[in-house]
Amino acid sequence: MTNFKRTTVTSALPYANGPVHIGHLAGVYVPADIYVRYLRLKGEEVLFIGGSDEHGVPITIKAKKEGVTPQDIVDRYHGIIKKSFEDFGITFDIYSRTTSRTHRELASEIFKTIESKGGFIEKTNEQYYDEAAQQFLADRYITGKCPHCGNENAYGDQCESCGASLNPTDLINPKSAISGNVPVMRETKHWYLPLDQHEAWLRKWILEDHKEWKPNVYGQCKSWLDMGLQPRAVSRDLDWGIPVPVPNAEGKVLYVWFDAPIGYISNTKELCDSQPEKYGKWEKWWKDEDTRLLHFIGKDNIVFHCIVFPSVLKAEGSYILPDNVPANEFLNLEGDKISTSRNWAVWLHEYLEDFPGKQDVLRYVLTANAPETKDNDFTWKDFQARNNNELVAIFGNFINRALVLTQKYYDGKVPALGELTDYDKQTLEEFVNVKAEVEKLLNNFRFRDAQKEAMTLARIGNKYLADTEPWKVAKTDMDRVATIMHLSLQIAANLAIAFEPFLPFTSEKLRTMLGMKAFNWADLGKIDLLTQGSQLGTPELLFEKIEDEAIEAQVQKLLNTKIANETASYKATPVKEKVAFDDFMKMDIRVGTVLDCQKVPKADKLLQFRLADGLEERTILSGIAAYYSNPEELIGTQVCFIANFEPRKLRGVMSEGMILSAEDADGKLVLIKPSVKVTNGVEVK
Ligand code: MF3
Ligand code: ZN
Repeated sequence: MTNFKRTTVTSALPYANGPVHIGHLAGVYVPADIYVRYLRLKGEEVLFIGGSDEHGVPITIKAKKEGVTPQDIVDRYHGIIKKSFEDFGITFDIYSRTTSRTHRELASEIFKTIESKGGFIEKTNEQYYDEAAQQFLADRYITGKCPHCGNENAYGDQCESCGASLNPTDLINPKSAISGNVPVMRETKHWYLPLDQHEAWLRKWILEDHKEWKPNVYGQCKSWLDMGLQPRAVSRDLDWGIPVPVPNAEGKVLYVWFDAPIGYISNTKELCDSQPEKYGKWEKWWKDEDTRLLHFIGKDNIVFHCIVFPSVLKAEGSYILPDNVPANEFLNLEGDKISTSRNWAVWLHEYLEDFPGKQDVLRYVLTANAPETKDNDFTWKDFQARNNNELVAIFGNFINRALVLTQKYYDGKVPALGELTDYDKQTLEEFVNVKAEVEKLLNNFRFRDAQKEAMTLARIGNKYLADTEPWKVAKTDMDRVATIMHLSLQIAANLAIAFEPFLPFTSEKLRTMLGMKAFNWADLGKIDLLTQGSQLGTPELLFEKIEDEAIEAQVQKLLNTKIANETASYKATPVKEKVAFDDFMKMDIRVGTVLDCQKVPKADKLLQFRLADGLEERTILSGIAAYYSNPEELIGTQVCFIANFEPRKLRGVMSEGMILSAEDADGKLVLIKPSVKVTNGVEVK
């Protein structure tokens, strides 16, 4: 890290086409917020910029589906997203939007500057056009088969199955997402950023000068650069976005990935213009070599922030480039990829309805499990365990014991510090080390380990109380108890500081309970944070145990989503012609137990069953071998079979009946069996 005077921190602008979920929080906003809070505590000059990304095709598609305007969509979700961030204590200096006037003007200005310097190339080529809808089909307006993995529903810009980035013409069997028609080719003109011309400086800047970037970020950049960069279109034929600000560009707007990152700058400008005395001129955050720029993003945004946006800034000519881009990998949910369209997510606003006041528990778990170096999994069981075994049992327990004992022996007043024993000194040394370690980890964007290290402060506190046993010493030596309690309270005060970046709500509660004044990072590690004789507030529990029922309810909610998704994708066949009761009664359906089951030689579909049918035994052949690879495992289970089915000879074996299976949506056959054991030979009615 070189010398700098201030830091501009940006966090990816989420698309305003849905609410935000735990994946957003874990990957981008919690780490960015931890880092910014840490810098603020250190007294550094820092600006934290957020906002909604309100252009782009997914928003227009959603609007079309709902029969409303794109503006309606972004107004709705901008409000919901902004509130979620406030609720979770994400301390943006500004959270604005890319439909603001300031943004439209600045994005246009930057485009015009680059254009006038000859920084774009104009190209006319053929693109897909939907004749019925009279519209060019950009990005997600076109779907088809992915040439890399065969996914039938890949988009014109990306395959969500294999992650490949695509051009519409890469798709096999392309279809318009508007009309479903096969599109035709038609000529259109667009502006391109010639990334190939930027390749040389990008290679040096990233591969040589920024070897310190996280391996996942550096590696992705390297593989893009090694593949060779191509010119990239920065305009689209669409009616939602910022119009291309040059003559003869009717019907063309700026590509969303051109305008969105400029949103970081426009939002800074909006903030500084409205409060110049507090924030100064916006240019100092974006054009001063003494400013350090950091982008917090998810891994799908790496190429845009490390290659495309820097090229835009460079082409414009007056901006600084990012110093680091600490991108994270993805967070999965209970083993599956989080998905807005499949509703496979824990939505922040819903979490708060179910766990009111427990923002910090989620912040804690998401950081403890942060996908910093690889994809990670969020499970409700782990959430419960971390709350109960770490926050309640370690952190909460220590604070509670320190406060309750002080209440008991000293009426809640901070007792006097006496002479320190060797053990006291050793304890203090340990926690001074914690400070250095936490700092080192935070400086390297290793939030997960930093929080873990901060937790050792609480562990040290617990151990100190357990080892010194003030409740026993109280019988003989109240002076010693005073010292023990004094030190314990100072450790508690240190916890309030160390956890301010991670668990801001808890830190604030603790600060009030201890009657601490405002603090900064330099106070961490001190033992004069509380003055002798000062009165503590009423002890309150910082965390509470989360019971199994609450967790089961969340797991059930996800299960319901899964079932809803499955039924939504399966269309049941129409019901067959009606049958009379008497006709149904002609069928003799019974239950039997499998005595033996094996594959029929040379007939790869057939299994040969021997059944106990309540009378004697019978043999039935069934075409389910493909779905039961270990037929022996079926021995002992009960099945339903038609007992009066005309016997038939199959492969030389007489089959006396038919075993019932359900055919699942994917064609898989599943045996039908009674839900509890019944007597062999009983009838199914
Ligand atoms: N909206 C994009 C996404 O959710 C992120 C945009 S980041 C910005 O993937 F740089 F463009 F602002
Ligand atoms: Zn694919």
